[in-house]
Amino acid sequence: MRAKIIGTGSYLPERVMTNQDWEKIVETSDEWITSRTGIKERHFAAEGQATSDLIVEASKAAIAEAGIDKDELDLIIVATISGDNAYPSTGNWVQSKLGIKPIPAFDLSAGCSGFLYGLIVADSFIKAGVAKKVLVAGAEVMSRVINWEDRNTCVLFGDGAGAAVLEATEEDTGILSHFWEADGNLGELLIQPAGGSAMPASEETVANKKHTVHMRGNEVFKHAVRMMQESAMKAMERAGLTSDDIDLFIPHQANIRIIESTIKRANIPQEKTFINIDKIANVSAGTIPIALDQARKQGRIKPGDNVLLAAFGAGFTWAGMAIRF
Ligand code: ACO
Repeated sequence: MRAKIIGTGSYLPERVMTNQDWEKIVETSDEWITSRTGIKERHFAAEGQATSDLIVEASKAAIAEAGIDKDELDLIIVATISGDNAYPSTGNWVQSKLGIKPIPAFDLSAGCSGFLYGLIVADSFIKAGVAKKVLVAGAEVMSRVINWEDRNTCVLFGDGAGAAVLEATEEDTGILSHFWEADGNLGELLIQPAGGSAMPASEETVANKKHTVHMRGNEVFKHAVRMMQESAMKAMERAGLTSDDIDLFIPHQANIRIIESTIKRANIPQEKTFINIDKIANVSAGTIPIALDQARKQGRIKPGDNVLLAAFGAGFTWAGMAIRF
């Protein structure tokens, strides 16, 4: 038995923030951002729009495409690092805002690998008979957790949500393999230092912007290339596939240069690689599910296609997955 994706959905907030918009806020340029990252624009949530609001829109689309009643779901998993509150979980808000009867719901924190971690958990629960129909969402409102004065990081991120509905299948489709790892020794390279028990909120933490993204970009970059390649290669190997068997590769979209070195090392041609970083930037846990939904809606994934996913993120975490549609 395998778990397969029977519906996907995504939602991007209306407001588009271009590189030119950032030029008015920090000392940067469209040329610098484009050449260093591949990003041209990103979507930012409207005032009052929380992460759960974005997920609700994406989930409604995923549930509709799955052709199921929302009350058939028996588990909700939300991957995010910018949830509505420290607690309750954003998964709880999603359950309530979708008007679903009480079912298990929880959040999962694995940075940009969060959605893949969520799929792996859902797949395992379905195989174990713990759940039958699972909603997995990945979403962020990064605009609320970036430091708007730090040009090194603020230009890199965007807001958005993606969701997928999974169920068991006896067919030769669905999740074929996965690979996932984490190494907390690299935790300090990408961290929101304050707001938890290690550094509770105080006037000082707020004044020093400790509740925002702190990243050592160069070091992250080096690890990212290795982790993305390893995740892609291991997921293919475990599924018994080679790069020739892959119809579409959906990598995490943190930097176009990371994507380019990954596909070169993994021997995957650019035309088989889905890229949307120019339009949505890095949406952390939202990136992969948004890209997966966009790729399906654009007709880039046909029945029988082998799709490869790979991501890395804060933690550090990294993960890969092969899925047959
Ligand atoms: N505009 C103009 N100049 C800038 C900007 C900017 N927005 N940001 C940095 N610079 C400057 C720096 O100050 C530096 O200037 P200096 O030489 O005078 O000191 C210069 O540009 C070069 O800076 P570098 O950091 O060396 O630039 P680099 O080529 O490494 O690119 C970047 C930086 C884009 C952040 C890159 O390192 C990167 O993409 N790293 C990985 C980021 C990533 O993958 N993050 C994932 C997050 S995942 C998650 O889980 C949330």
